[in-house]
Amino acid sequence: MEKLYESLLQGNKDWVAKKLKENPNFFKELAKGQNPPVLWIGCSDSRVPANEITNTKSGEVFVHRNIANMVVHTDTNMLSVLDFAVNILEVKHVIVCGHYGCGGIQAAMSHKHFGGVIDNWLRNIKDVYRLHNKELDEIKDPVLRDRRLTELNIFEQVYNLCKTSIIQSAWEAHKRPHVHGWVYDVAHGLIKDLNVTVRDQSEMHNIYKIDF
Ligand code: CO
Repeated sequence: MEKLYESLLQGNKDWVAKKLKENPNFFKELAKGQNPPVLWIGCSDSRVPANEITNTKSGEVFVHRNIANMVVHTDTNMLSVLDFAVNILEVKHVIVCGHYGCGGIQAAMSHKHFGGVIDNWLRNIKDVYRLHNKELDEIKDPVLRDRRLTELNIFEQVYNLCKTSIIQSAWEAHKRPHVHGWVYDVAHGLIKDLNVTVRDQSEMHNIYKIDF
């Protein structure tokens, strides 16, 4: 156990050496500040590291991750990240990236008791199931049903972002950010754009539109 812990620190030293070899000013440049054009909202799953799967470098992606890439309106952590990304960093894109084979989605589709806090988090995914109950219940293959809920959950989290005053007031004032939904496939490593990009209030359900 101690070995694994130490190997991470050694890994860091190796990485620093590699970066300095490629570019002696690498850390000097990063130390000046960040200006990432993208906010990534992804799953905490260890197989979905935002920078690695998009081949991006330090400083290029502002990241928030939680179980099943959720946008929950009472989550002050997510809201603070969103507020900072949109209003201070002025990101141009917000991407919700889910992934097939998500443990959070699978858990939400079951009736298991996982624990006092996580059950309440998973309930937000069960709400997505209930919203799309008819479509999902018609899918008999459990793997395909799981994949479809993964996609529907991404759509709903994109829409949840758009419902926030943070996103809507940025659209009004700056015509950004564009909000995207992507799905990553752990089985082959490719990301699929689900083409649910929202750029303004026009496609939103009227009840969620905020007047400015
Ligand atoms: Co996941």
